[in-house]
Amino acid sequence: MGNVLTDEKIPNNVNLSGDKRLQRALEEWQPHFIDWWKQMGPLGWQERDIYLRTAVSVETDGWAHFDHVKMPDYRWGIFLEPKKEGRTHGFGDFYGQPVWDEVPGEFRNLMKRLIVTQGDTEPASVEQQRDLGATAPSLYDLRNLFQVNVEEGRHLWAMVYLLHTYFGRDGREEAEELLARRSGDADKPRILGAFNEPTSHWLSFYMFTMFTDRDGKYQLSALAESGFDPLARTCRFMLTEEAHHMFVGESGVQRVLKRSCELMKETDGDPRSAGGIDLATVQKYANLWFTLSLDLFGGEVSSNAADAFAAGIKGRYKEDRYDEHKLVGSHFAMDVLEGGKVVHKDVPMRNALNEVLRTEYIKDCQRGVDRWNKTIKDEGIDFEIKLPSHKFHRQIGMWAGSYFTPAGEQLDAATYAARRGEWLPSEADEVYIKSLMKPVYERGKMANWVAPPLRGINGLPEDFEYVRL
Ligand SMILES: [Fe+2]
Ligand SMILES: [Fe+2]
Repeated sequence: MGNVLTDEKIPNNVNLSGDKRLQRALEEWQPHFIDWWKQMGPLGWQERDIYLRTAVSVETDGWAHFDHVKMPDYRWGIFLEPKKEGRTHGFGDFYGQPVWDEVPGEFRNLMKRLIVTQGDTEPASVEQQRDLGATAPSLYDLRNLFQVNVEEGRHLWAMVYLLHTYFGRDGREEAEELLARRSGDADKPRILGAFNEPTSHWLSFYMFTMFTDRDGKYQLSALAESGFDPLARTCRFMLTEEAHHMFVGESGVQRVLKRSCELMKETDGDPRSAGGIDLATVQKYANLWFTLSLDLFGGEVSSNAADAFAAGIKGRYKEDRYDEHKLVGSHFAMDVLEGGKVVHKDVPMRNALNEVLRTEYIKDCQRGVDRWNKTIKDEGIDFEIKLPSHKFHRQIGMWAGSYFTPAGEQLDAATYAARRGEWLPSEADEVYIKSLMKPVYERGKMANWVAPPLRGINGLPEDFEYVRL
């Protein structure tokens, strides 16, 4: 009673009003989602008007609508890229055969696990970021935080749509579980490690959106190749929104670096003395979030990755770029750990696919870091941010349990423990960064530790009232 989901309330291109079964399932789930949002979403800002982008169609021009809206009234919609008639499997054992519109029984569990794992990251990040509104460096940043949050909420809707539509009762149960797990909770944690780490200040938020949302881009891209067509089409549309999240991260860190350089010049090289962040500390947070994000790609040699590729469920990043799409008999040359030593070796390609995707991801991160370094150089400062080795500080996969420097040299546990503070944020760094986090809610004003953005949102000036107080 009372909760009728119309196309007006839930913008969609899945014929929601004509699909009674989906409508009933979502009408049951939606109030639980809103309860979760009010309990675990942005703390203290639910009744404010925020200048937000809402997805309203899948047209390239005008897919989004911008307006002030209270977050609980945000119109979380369901959008899939339009179906391409005659699409065929682009990789794996079913290469060249027509794609599936339903889930084949034999791959049901594998598919469900991938969708649930992806879906779990979406509400997790909202939970991780829920306190950040209290310390926003500007209204511009505050609005960007909430934009990312509501879109992660919409990504959850996207995955729940798939669970409700294609997985029957198990799907509905999984959709409830997605609202029951909690980031960082000892008893009911989120599924993946990086999504249980606290994002306790804005430097970590920028690093998270730079590195962890970029993992999202690569996972979604691999699923966007899927031979299960509704999954592919859902993920393609999600990627449209993901670009903004990575922009928030990359430009956020860039602004921190710019300000740090300015303060270095004003203070003879000690930005902390003027309430800024020194470049060495920015490097440590990059080391931390980059390596936590590397873990999200899974084990270096993985039979799960091989199975998902064989089944046509999860492909490579931009599968089109490759000539060969079955990967039987081919190999990938990569570093592996054998008897405690690093050796370079050929691994059967299907088993190496997590590493293949991780390698593409690292290249993409490097392009962003190059842009950061250009900012530092333009400021006339001699310093470069460096991405650490993929072997450094790993908790998942074959490098976990061994110790490496950021440069990739192996070392013993005791030396690593003694030097850890040079490479990763210490307790003292964390305390210092948190001490800088004082909110700035005046229009057009910016906290001292970060430079203003180059331009405002949606062509608006920087001093626009992005959040109404
Ligand atoms: Fe997302
Ligand atoms: Fe995202």
